[in-house]
Amino acid sequence: MRNLIIAIDGPAGAGKSTISKIIAEKLNIEYIDTGAMYRAVTLKIIRKGISLNDDDAIECMLKETEIDFINGRIYLDGEDVSKDIRTIEVSSKVSDVAAKSYVRQRLVEIQKNMAAKKSVIMDGRDIGTNVLKDANYKIFLTASVEERAKRRYKEMIEKGSNVTFEDVCKDIENRDRIDSTRKVNPLRKADDAIEVDTTSKSIDEVVDEILSIVNKRE
Ligand code: DC
Repeated sequence: MRNLIIAIDGPAGAGKSTISKIIAEKLNIEYIDTGAMYRAVTLKIIRKGISLNDDDAIECMLKETEIDFINGRIYLDGEDVSKDIRTIEVSSKVSDVAAKSYVRQRLVEIQKNMAAKKSVIMDGRDIGTNVLKDANYKIFLTASVEERAKRRYKEMIEKGSNVTFEDVCKDIENRDRIDSTRKVNPLRKADDAIEVDTTSKSIDEVVDEILSIVNKRE
């Protein structure tokens, strides 16, 4: 049987990871969070004290960096960093790291390899337009900036983070700008993607909407 490949793109806080995790479970396929991979690279840069302008050092660091997903957790050089990659410090730097072409090249290669072996639902910014251009289904998830900031703020407070709503709002607006204006594979809806606006919808409603798209075309 051929593998089932679902690409989910959209801006920060649109609900990509929440929705993708549920769909992965329902369809019994693997979920790959590509944003977490860019975050892991950013975390390593911060920990090593490398300047974001020092491309030689970052490129060198990347050659000795291993990123894996095991049971839904992300491992950086063998260490589970699933929690450490979600800080506001990582969030505020990750878009600049993800704008670097050599970082994208390396991570996209790993992402393509992951999807070549099994059925996956992969979320990110350039999955439908670049990483998995031949995906069976492409979904572009959106929501208003206010709604996205509200969701992110709630999520971070629940996880014990010490952030203000203004910080989260600024971070989302800033990342939207960098992610959609960067030169290499910017955030963009693929021509053949179906847009789903999640603003006033419940998680269940969005999951059902996407599952009906998948079932209809299967
Ligand atoms: O989905 P997220 O918010 O965890 O992603 C973190 C950042 O990584 C996001 O601001 C942009 C970048 N990213 C990207 O450029 N391409 C992807 N496929 C996934 C994420």
